[in-house]
Amino acid sequence: MGTILEFFTVIISINLSFFNLVYASFNVTTLHNEVFGVLLLSNNKSHMKLEIIIASTRPGRIGDQIGKWIADYAAEHSDFDVSVADLAEINLPMYDEPNLPMLGNYTKEHTKQWSKRIDAADAFIIVTPEYNYTMPPSLLNAIDFLQNEWKYKPAAFVGYGGTGAVRAIQTERLLFTNLSMMPIPIMVNLVGVYRPAIITFKPEEKHEQAAKKMLEELHKWAKALMPLHKS
Ligand SMILES: Cc1cc2nc3c(=O)[nH]c(=O)nc-3n(C[C@H](O)[C@H](O)[C@H](O)COP(=O)(O)O)c2cc1C
Repeated sequence: MGTILEFFTVIISINLSFFNLVYASFNVTTLHNEVFGVLLLSNNKSHMKLEIIIASTRPGRIGDQIGKWIADYAAEHSDFDVSVADLAEINLPMYDEPNLPMLGNYTKEHTKQWSKRIDAADAFIIVTPEYNYTMPPSLLNAIDFLQNEWKYKPAAFVGYGGTGAVRAIQTERLLFTNLSMMPIPIMVNLVGVYRPAIITFKPEEKHEQAAKKMLEELHKWAKALMPLHKS
């Protein structure tokens, strides 16, 4: 009788331990989901930083109006924290660092400031015209100043001009892949928007639709690449 009782006691305690184990692991899973759920949620409404680079610097340009439009649109319709880097205001000289940019060993204050700004960004929108079927030299110069600061970050394009700067954007995409950036395919092409034909830029419905799609895609890439460039 004693042996039978002992036998059932052992079986019951094994079962209890088993249920405790399942319960405990359930709690751990719940906790795990809660913790990661919060992280994922906060990542969805993230504080990823979008830097909008206005490439054109010439007096009388239309690029500043387009940059303002896309910056306002992104601030209202995306989860990015938005800031605008207007190359005309930043006013970098022609590349004037004695050391190679990949070393990050900058000697000039303007390069240090530019480096800090680009390093803090998680994604870019390049507001670009087309000069002689290629990118404006002001953009190439600003990009050449740095290297690692661009790495593993996505870039989208808002192009304008006779053909929406499609040929210039092709050259920018090539340049960006060399810097281990991700040039995203969905872009905004403002066809026929150029000076002197247009004095005041007025966005149309189709421009806003394209901007919305582009921003959604840019956000996905920024989120996916964040662990790479933050590591
Ligand atoms: C040096 C130069 C070259 C240009 N080459 C092109 C070109 O290849 N394709 C084009 O569509 N427009 C071209 N344009 C016209 C520009 O699209 C137009 O002037 C546009 O407004 C330039 O942008 P911005 O005003 O912001 O500087 C050129 C303009 C300049 C100043």
